[in-house]
Amino acid sequence: MSLKATAKAPANLAFVKYWGKKDVDLRLPTNNSISVNLSNATTITTVEFDTTTKDDQLFVDSKILESGSEFSSRVFHHIDRMRNMAGIMQKAIVHTHNTFPTGVGIASSASGFAALTVATSSALGLTLSEKDLSEMARLGSGSACRSIPNGFCEWIASDAKNHSYAIQIAPPEHWDICIVTVVVSKQIKQLSSTSGHSLAVASPFFKTRLESLPKRLDTVRSAILNRDFKTFGRETELEAISFHSIAMTSPIQTDHGWMSGAYYWLPDSLELMLAVQQWRSDGLEVYFTLDAGPSVHLICINNDLDQVINAVEEIEGRSRKDRKWDIMVNKPAQGAYIITDQAYD
Ligand code: DP6
Repeated sequence: MSLKATAKAPANLAFVKYWGKKDVDLRLPTNNSISVNLSNATTITTVEFDTTTKDDQLFVDSKILESGSEFSSRVFHHIDRMRNMAGIMQKAIVHTHNTFPTGVGIASSASGFAALTVATSSALGLTLSEKDLSEMARLGSGSACRSIPNGFCEWIASDAKNHSYAIQIAPPEHWDICIVTVVVSKQIKQLSSTSGHSLAVASPFFKTRLESLPKRLDTVRSAILNRDFKTFGRETELEAISFHSIAMTSPIQTDHGWMSGAYYWLPDSLELMLAVQQWRSDGLEVYFTLDAGPSVHLICINNDLDQVINAVEEIEGRSRKDRKWDIMVNKPAQGAYIITDQAYD
Protein backbone atom coordinates (compact mmCIF):
# COMPACT_ATOMS: atom_id res chain seq x y z
CA MET A 1 0.00 0.00 0.00
CA SER A 2 1.20 3.52 -0.73
CA LEU A 3 0.03 6.67 1.01
CA LYS A 4 0.50 10.09 -0.53
CA ALA A 5 -0.52 13.73 0.00
CA THR A 6 0.52 17.19 -1.19
CA ALA A 7 0.26 20.39 0.86
CA LYS A 8 0.90 24.05 0.21
CA ALA A 9 1.93 26.41 3.01
CA PRO A 10 2.84 30.09 3.20
CA ALA A 11 5.90 31.62 4.79
CA ASN A 12 4.91 34.15 7.42
CA LEU A 13 6.28 37.52 8.43
CA ALA A 14 6.55 38.27 12.15
CA PHE A 15 5.51 41.74 13.36
CA VAL A 16 6.48 40.71 16.90
CA LYS A 17 9.41 38.33 16.65
CA TYR A 18 10.17 34.92 18.12
CA TRP A 19 13.79 35.19 19.26
CA GLY A 20 15.03 32.94 22.08
CA LYS A 21 13.85 29.55 23.31
CA LYS A 22 12.90 28.24 26.74
CA ASP A 23 13.34 24.67 25.50
CA VAL A 24 15.54 24.05 22.49
CA ASP A 25 14.39 20.47 21.70
CA LEU A 26 10.69 21.27 22.02
CA ARG A 27 11.14 24.67 20.35
CA LEU A 28 9.29 26.44 23.14
CA PRO A 29 9.72 30.20 22.71
CA THR A 30 10.52 32.73 25.41
CA ASN A 31 7.68 34.98 24.21
CA ASN A 32 4.46 35.11 22.17
CA SER A 33 4.85 36.36 18.60
CA ILE A 34 2.49 37.83 15.98
CA SER A 35 2.68 37.33 12.21
CA VAL A 36 0.83 37.30 8.91
CA ASN A 37 0.92 34.58 6.27
CA LEU A 38 2.39 35.67 2.93
CA SER A 39 0.47 35.04 -0.31
CA ASN A 40 3.44 34.81 -2.67
CA ALA A 41 6.07 33.00 -0.62
CA THR A 42 4.94 29.39 -0.43
CA THR A 43 6.24 25.84 -0.24
CA ILE A 44 4.58 22.90 -1.97
CA THR A 45 5.47 19.50 -0.55
CA THR A 46 4.43 15.99 -1.53
CA VAL A 47 5.02 13.13 0.88
CA GLU A 48 4.61 9.52 -0.18
CA PHE A 49 5.05 6.47 2.03
CA ASP A 50 6.01 3.40 0.10
CA THR A 51 6.71 -0.21 1.10
CA THR A 52 9.00 -0.74 -1.88
CA THR A 53 11.42 2.06 -0.89
CA LYS A 54 14.35 1.07 1.36
CA ASP A 55 15.47 4.57 2.41
CA ASP A 56 13.84 7.90 3.09
CA GLN A 57 14.47 10.26 0.19
CA LEU A 58 14.24 14.04 -0.02
CA PHE A 59 14.08 15.92 -3.33
CA VAL A 60 14.40 19.72 -3.33
CA ASP A 61 13.38 21.20 -6.71
CA SER A 62 13.56 17.65 -8.16
CA LYS A 63 17.20 17.18 -7.02
CA ILE A 64 17.88 14.49 -4.42
CA LEU A 65 19.56 15.68 -1.22
CA GLU A 66 22.27 13.60 0.45
CA SER A 67 20.62 11.44 3.11
CA GLY A 68 23.07 12.44 5.87
CA SER A 69 22.75 16.19 5.34
CA GLU A 70 21.65 18.34 8.27
CA PHE A 71 18.49 19.45 6.48
CA SER A 72 17.36 15.99 5.40
CA SER A 73 17.98 14.60 8.92
CA ARG A 74 15.79 17.38 10.33
CA VAL A 75 13.06 16.58 7.79
CA PHE A 76 13.08 12.81 8.42
CA HIS A 77 13.23 13.30 12.19
CA HIS A 78 10.08 15.39 11.84
CA ILE A 79 8.39 12.71 9.74
CA ASP A 80 9.36 10.13 12.42
CA ARG A 81 7.26 12.04 14.97
CA MET A 82 4.16 11.46 12.83
CA ARG A 83 5.16 7.93 11.75
CA ASN A 84 5.34 7.02 15.46
CA MET A 85 1.90 8.53 16.10
CA ALA A 86 0.37 6.63 13.17
CA GLY A 87 2.27 3.39 13.85
CA ILE A 88 3.31 3.34 10.18
CA MET A 89 7.00 2.75 9.54
CA GLN A 90 7.14 2.84 5.74
CA LYS A 91 9.89 4.93 4.17
CA ALA A 92 9.04 8.36 2.83
CA ILE A 93 9.71 10.01 -0.51
CA VAL A 94 9.46 13.78 -0.14
CA HIS A 95 9.40 16.32 -2.95
CA THR A 96 9.51 19.99 -2.01
CA HIS A 97 9.65 23.28 -3.87
CA ASN A 98 9.73 26.91 -2.69
CA THR A 99 8.37 29.79 -4.77
CA PHE A 100 10.98 32.14 -3.27
CA PRO A 101 14.71 32.21 -2.37
CA THR A 102 15.79 30.50 0.87
CA GLY A 103 18.11 31.67 3.64
CA VAL A 104 17.76 35.39 2.89
CA GLY A 105 15.29 36.50 5.55
CA ILE A 106 12.02 35.04 4.28
CA ALA A 107 10.93 32.28 6.61
CA SER A 108 11.46 29.23 4.39
CA SER A 109 11.63 26.87 7.36
CA ALA A 110 8.16 28.11 8.38
CA SER A 111 6.49 27.32 5.05
CA GLY A 112 8.62 24.20 4.64
CA PHE A 113 7.79 22.57 7.97
CA ALA A 114 4.13 23.66 7.83
CA ALA A 115 3.71 22.04 4.38
CA LEU A 116 5.66 18.96 5.51
CA THR A 117 3.50 18.57 8.63
CA VAL A 118 0.19 18.90 6.79
CA ALA A 119 1.22 16.61 3.90
CA THR A 120 2.76 13.94 6.18
CA SER A 121 -0.11 13.79 8.65
CA SER A 122 -2.61 13.57 5.80
CA ALA A 123 -0.64 10.88 3.95
CA LEU A 124 -0.48 8.84 7.17
CA GLY A 125 -4.22 9.24 7.75
CA LEU A 126 -3.79 11.13 11.03
CA THR A 127 -6.74 13.35 11.92
CA LEU A 128 -5.14 16.31 13.67
CA SER A 129 -6.93 19.53 14.67
CA GLU A 130 -5.53 22.91 13.60
CA LYS A 131 -4.03 23.25 17.09
CA ASP A 132 -2.43 19.78 16.88
CA LEU A 133 -1.00 20.57 13.44
CA SER A 134 0.36 23.88 14.70
CA GLU A 135 2.05 22.19 17.69
CA MET A 136 3.46 19.50 15.45
CA ALA A 137 4.77 22.04 12.91
CA ARG A 138 6.42 23.95 15.78
CA LEU A 139 8.55 20.91 16.62
CA GLY A 140 10.01 21.07 13.07
CA SER A 141 10.64 24.82 13.08
CA GLY A 142 9.18 27.19 15.67
CA SER A 143 7.81 29.81 13.28
CA ALA A 144 6.12 27.06 11.20
CA CYS A 145 3.36 26.85 13.81
CA ARG A 146 2.18 30.31 12.64
CA SER A 147 1.84 29.10 9.02
CA ILE A 148 -0.98 26.69 9.94
CA PRO A 149 -3.96 28.99 10.81
CA ASN A 150 -5.24 31.52 8.24
CA GLY A 151 -4.29 35.19 8.07
CA PHE A 152 -2.94 37.13 11.06
CA CYS A 153 -1.76 34.76 13.81
CA GLU A 154 -0.42 34.80 17.35
CA TRP A 155 1.82 32.03 18.66
CA ILE A 156 0.92 31.38 22.27
CA ALA A 157 4.24 30.58 23.98
CA SER A 158 2.51 28.45 26.60
CA ASP A 159 -1.19 28.07 27.46
CA ALA A 160 -2.67 27.03 30.82
CA LYS A 161 -1.89 23.38 29.97
CA ASN A 162 1.66 24.16 28.80
CA HIS A 163 0.78 23.73 25.14
CA SER A 164 2.43 26.01 22.58
CA TYR A 165 0.74 26.72 19.21
CA ALA A 166 -0.57 29.51 17.00
CA ILE A 167 -4.13 30.81 16.76
CA GLN A 168 -5.79 33.16 14.31
CA ILE A 169 -6.16 36.80 15.37
CA ALA A 170 -7.92 37.87 12.17
CA PRO A 171 -8.64 36.27 8.77
CA PRO A 172 -6.59 37.34 5.70
CA GLU A 173 -9.40 39.51 4.30
CA HIS A 174 -9.60 41.50 7.57
CA TRP A 175 -7.04 44.06 6.43
CA ASP A 176 -5.85 45.10 3.00
CA ILE A 177 -2.18 45.64 3.77
CA CYS A 178 0.67 44.79 1.42
CA ILE A 179 4.10 43.47 2.19
CA VAL A 180 6.69 44.42 -0.41
CA THR A 181 9.62 42.10 0.19
CA VAL A 182 12.86 43.40 -1.27
CA VAL A 183 15.45 40.63 -1.65
CA VAL A 184 18.63 42.72 -1.74
CA SER A 185 20.95 39.69 -1.82
CA LYS A 186 20.53 35.97 -2.41
CA GLN A 187 23.69 35.13 -0.49
CA ILE A 188 22.76 32.64 2.26
CA LYS A 189 23.00 34.17 5.75
CA GLN A 190 26.03 33.23 7.85
CA LEU A 191 24.16 32.34 11.02
CA SER A 192 20.93 30.29 10.92
CA SER A 193 17.92 31.39 12.99
CA THR A 194 18.22 28.17 14.97
CA SER A 195 21.77 29.13 16.07
CA GLY A 196 20.74 32.75 16.65
CA HIS A 197 17.99 31.76 19.09
CA SER A 198 20.43 30.03 21.41
CA LEU A 199 22.70 33.09 21.49
CA ALA A 200 19.95 35.61 22.33
CA VAL A 201 20.20 35.13 26.07
CA ALA A 202 23.84 36.26 25.95
CA SER A 203 22.79 39.77 24.97
CA PRO A 204 22.83 42.15 27.95
CA PHE A 205 19.58 43.61 26.57
CA PHE A 206 17.61 40.36 26.27
CA LYS A 207 15.90 40.67 29.66
CA THR A 208 14.84 44.24 28.93
CA ARG A 209 13.40 43.12 25.60
CA LEU A 210 11.36 40.35 27.25
CA GLU A 211 9.99 42.79 29.81
CA SER A 212 8.80 45.13 27.06
CA LEU A 213 7.09 42.47 24.97
CA PRO A 214 3.72 41.93 26.76
CA LYS A 215 2.83 45.60 26.15
CA ARG A 216 4.10 45.45 22.56
CA LEU A 217 2.07 42.30 21.85
CA ASP A 218 -1.09 44.03 23.15
CA THR A 219 -0.38 47.12 21.04
CA VAL A 220 0.25 45.19 17.82
CA ARG A 221 -2.71 42.82 18.33
CA SER A 222 -5.11 45.73 19.00
CA ALA A 223 -3.73 47.76 16.10
CA ILE A 224 -4.38 44.81 13.76
CA LEU A 225 -7.91 44.31 15.11
CA ASN A 226 -8.66 48.06 14.85
CA ARG A 227 -6.88 48.44 11.49
CA ASP A 228 -4.83 51.25 13.03
CA PHE A 229 -2.02 51.37 10.48
CA LYS A 230 0.07 54.11 12.09
CA THR A 231 0.30 52.43 15.50
CA PHE A 232 0.81 49.03 13.88
CA GLY A 233 3.57 50.26 11.56
CA ARG A 234 5.47 52.18 14.21
CA GLU A 235 5.38 49.33 16.71
CA THR A 236 6.39 46.79 14.05
CA GLU A 237 9.39 48.87 12.99
CA LEU A 238 10.46 49.42 16.61
CA GLU A 239 10.17 45.68 17.17
CA ALA A 240 12.39 44.86 14.18
CA ILE A 241 15.11 47.09 15.62
CA SER A 242 14.65 45.57 19.09
CA PHE A 243 15.14 42.06 17.68
CA HIS A 244 18.20 43.05 15.63
CA SER A 245 19.67 44.85 18.65
CA ILE A 246 19.62 41.53 20.48
CA ALA A 247 21.20 39.69 17.55
CA MET A 248 23.91 42.34 17.18
CA THR A 249 24.81 42.20 20.87
CA SER A 250 24.94 38.40 21.25
CA PRO A 251 28.60 37.35 20.97
CA ILE A 252 29.37 34.26 18.89
CA GLN A 253 32.31 31.89 18.80
CA THR A 254 32.34 30.28 15.35
CA ASP A 255 34.77 27.86 13.69
CA HIS A 256 36.20 30.91 11.90
CA GLY A 257 36.66 33.07 14.99
CA TRP A 258 34.90 35.31 17.49
CA MET A 259 32.18 37.78 16.47
CA SER A 260 30.70 40.44 18.74
CA GLY A 261 27.24 39.77 17.31
CA ALA A 262 25.20 38.70 14.27
CA TYR A 263 24.57 41.35 11.63
CA TYR A 264 21.81 39.93 9.47
CA TRP A 265 21.40 43.07 7.38
CA LEU A 266 23.68 44.28 4.58
CA PRO A 267 24.57 47.81 3.42
CA ASP A 268 21.73 47.60 0.85
CA SER A 269 19.27 46.69 3.65
CA LEU A 270 20.35 49.73 5.64
CA GLU A 271 20.11 51.97 2.59
CA LEU A 272 16.47 50.90 2.20
CA MET A 273 15.70 51.30 5.90
CA LEU A 274 17.00 54.89 5.78
CA ALA A 275 15.02 55.53 2.59
CA VAL A 276 11.82 54.35 4.30
CA GLN A 277 12.32 56.97 7.01
CA GLN A 278 12.78 59.62 4.31
CA TRP A 279 9.68 58.45 2.37
CA ARG A 280 7.62 58.78 5.54
CA SER A 281 8.77 62.33 6.11
CA ASP A 282 7.78 62.99 2.46
CA GLY A 283 4.26 61.76 3.27
CA LEU A 284 4.34 58.11 2.10
CA GLU A 285 3.19 55.90 4.96
CA VAL A 286 5.39 52.81 4.83
CA TYR A 287 7.21 50.87 7.56
CA PHE A 288 9.92 48.21 7.49
CA THR A 289 10.74 45.00 9.27
CA LEU A 290 13.52 42.43 8.74
CA ASP A 291 13.86 38.84 9.93
CA ALA A 292 17.14 36.97 10.32
CA GLY A 293 18.44 37.94 6.88
CA PRO A 294 19.10 40.97 4.66
CA SER A 295 15.67 41.08 2.93
CA VAL A 296 13.67 44.17 3.85
CA HIS A 297 9.90 43.80 4.20
CA LEU A 298 8.07 47.05 3.50
CA ILE A 299 4.55 47.31 4.86
CA CYS A 300 1.98 49.69 3.37
CA ILE A 301 -1.74 49.88 2.72
CA ASN A 302 -2.93 48.65 -0.67
CA ASN A 303 -3.65 52.16 -2.00
CA ASP A 304 0.03 53.10 -1.59
CA LEU A 305 1.44 49.95 -3.19
CA ASP A 306 2.38 51.46 -6.59
CA GLN A 307 4.06 54.43 -4.96
CA VAL A 308 6.10 52.15 -2.69
CA ILE A 309 7.24 49.96 -5.60
CA ASN A 310 8.22 53.06 -7.61
CA ALA A 311 10.14 54.41 -4.63
CA VAL A 312 12.05 51.12 -4.23
CA GLU A 313 12.90 50.98 -7.93
CA GLU A 314 14.17 54.54 -7.80
CA ILE A 315 16.55 53.69 -4.91
CA GLU A 316 17.60 50.41 -6.55
CA GLY A 317 19.38 52.12 -9.44
CA ARG A 318 20.52 55.22 -7.57
CA SER A 319 23.97 54.31 -6.26
CA ARG A 320 24.74 51.46 -8.74
CA LYS A 321 23.05 51.34 -12.14
CA ASP A 322 23.57 47.55 -12.42
CA ARG A 323 22.07 46.76 -9.02
CA LYS A 324 19.16 44.32 -9.28
CA TRP A 325 16.89 43.52 -6.38
CA ASP A 326 14.01 41.03 -6.44
CA ILE A 327 10.75 42.61 -5.39
CA MET A 328 7.88 40.38 -4.24
CA VAL A 329 4.44 41.70 -3.35
CA ASN A 330 2.62 39.74 -0.66
CA LYS A 331 -0.87 40.08 0.78
CA PRO A 332 -2.27 38.41 3.90
CA ALA A 333 -2.95 34.78 3.04
CA GLN A 334 -4.49 31.57 4.26
CA GLY A 335 -2.48 28.99 6.19
CA ALA A 336 -1.35 25.51 5.10
CA TYR A 337 -3.77 23.27 3.20
CA ILE A 338 -3.93 20.03 1.24
CA ILE A 339 -3.95 20.46 -2.53
CA THR A 340 -4.30 16.79 -3.43
CA ASP A 341 -4.99 14.00 -1.06
CA GLN A 342 -4.69 10.47 -2.30
CA ALA A 343 -4.16 7.09 -0.70
CA TYR A 344 -3.97 4.18 -3.08
CA ASP A 345 -3.22 0.45 -3.00
C1 DP6 B 1 13.80 35.98 13.09
O1 DP6 B 1 11.44 29.52 13.33
O2 DP6 B 1 13.46 29.77 11.86
O3 DP6 B 1 12.26 34.80 11.71
O4 DP6 B 1 12.58 27.24 15.55
O5 DP6 B 1 15.03 27.21 15.24
O6 DP6 B 1 13.52 26.75 13.28
P1 DP6 B 1 13.70 27.50 14.60
O7 DP6 B 1 13.73 29.05 14.27
P2 DP6 B 1 12.87 29.87 13.22
O8 DP6 B 1 13.09 31.37 13.79
C2 DP6 B 1 12.49 32.47 13.18
C3 DP6 B 1 13.09 33.71 13.71
C4 DP6 B 1 12.63 35.01 13.07
C5 DP6 B 1 11.50 35.66 13.84
C6 DP6 B 1 10.12 35.07 13.65
O9 DP6 B 1 9.80 34.53 12.59
O10 DP6 B 1 9.34 35.23 14.60
